[in-house]
Amino acid sequence: MAETDNSALQIGVIGSGSMGSGIAQVAAQAGHVVYLFDKNPQALQRAREQLQSVLQRQVDKGRLQQAEAGEVLGRIRFVDSIYDCLPAGLVIEAIVEDLGIKRAVFEQLDDIVSPDCVLATNTSSLSIASIAAACNRPERVLGLHFFNPAPLMKLVEVIPAVQTGDDICRRALQWMRDWGKTPVLARDTPGFIVNRIARPFYGEALRILEEGQADVSTIDWAMTELGGFRMGPFTLMDFIGNDVNYKVTESVFQAFFYDPRYKPSFTQKRLSEAGFLGRKSGRGYYDYSDDGHLAPPNKDEALGKDIVWRILVMLINEAADALFWKIATRDDIELAMTQGVNYPKGLLAWADDKGIAHCVETLDRLYDEYREDRYRCSPLLRRMAREGKTFF
Ligand SMILES: NC(=O)c1ccc[n+]([C@@H]2O[C@H](COP(=O)([O-])OP(=O)(O)OC[C@H]3O[C@@H](n4cnc5c(N)ncnc54)[C@H](O)[C@@H]3O)[C@@H](O)[C@H]2O)c1
Repeated sequence: MAETDNSALQIGVIGSGSMGSGIAQVAAQAGHVVYLFDKNPQALQRAREQLQSVLQRQVDKGRLQQAEAGEVLGRIRFVDSIYDCLPAGLVIEAIVEDLGIKRAVFEQLDDIVSPDCVLATNTSSLSIASIAAACNRPERVLGLHFFNPAPLMKLVEVIPAVQTGDDICRRALQWMRDWGKTPVLARDTPGFIVNRIARPFYGEALRILEEGQADVSTIDWAMTELGGFRMGPFTLMDFIGNDVNYKVTESVFQAFFYDPRYKPSFTQKRLSEAGFLGRKSGRGYYDYSDDGHLAPPNKDEALGKDIVWRILVMLINEAADALFWKIATRDDIELAMTQGVNYPKGLLAWADDKGIAHCVETLDRLYDEYREDRYRCSPLLRRMAREGKTFF
């Protein structure tokens, strides 16, 4: 429970799917009254049942008193009209990822809530500026990007649009701290921080697979056992869903005006088209059926180290480039990747450990070999190597 008294500020949450209900729980646990609205009554009912069982599990595990769980749930009003969100001082939208639908909701919200109510979107990939532009008061709109599951993941990317007022951004950062979250400030650019920098974790692993350098289980083994990542890229893509992961990659690629660095993979596109979506469909890169068997990894340490380094150097390049383009500060980039996607170490600190010059040499070698812009080294890394600088 937050130390600040949050009862005065009421929160509206639009959309009661996985993100909306998680955000409602976070706000209610921080002491706010929450109006959780969904246009689909079944989704609202599902959210109510899920929140009940999530809170009950916390009670069973001794993390929450029974009375407290009742109070948290009691603070969440499951409402079937957007007009019920009228008393809110902050509304967070978490509906379907569709610009037209989101803009229509913001236009309506802008009309009905009080003039000083802050409007936030949880979009993963859309432009905050274009959502804000649907409102007569665009200065009160910003992005608040929570991670899934919202109650467990500490990171929140706070994204002001060009229209957003400075005071709105400051207030949002403070609210997130009050909710026990770790907010980082990100520029309104495709993928913000995490979904931009993390692309090579999937994309470069897919390249290694497509080139036949190693199979799925060997790449996953190398990244977890040798790289220290919690999940290998293929296990993670199967977990997220190949349809969802492919869509994010495609939308980042398009939003970057088709920069080849973010080019999606045919392998993943085909799996997605075939309905091999991962865990949820029983088959993805792995077969999850009862008689499905797993090819054992080839635990060749030299090969494993090559795999880890090729993926890691591409991640480092993205992190450095995000810093170069001032997408976020050095410290926020490190926080985002360690808390948003649980990387074992900040990528910029990792770059220092490996040696900036070594990163540049590897990227240049890859670029020479493939002659693809995908492998172009960030100007920041090259400059730092020349000047003998480190990130920390
Ligand atoms: N799932 C994730 O991992 C994740 C992580 C971060 C951000 N996001 C973003 O959060 C948003 C929601 O994602 P989700 O995974 O919770 O989706 P979801 O499909 O689980 O839930 C969306 C909900 O919005 C409701 N809805 C749709 N249109 C509506 C409208 N006009 N008015 C009211 N309710 C409406 C739907 O009925 C549904 O219950 C998306 O923008 C997504 O990109 C998702």
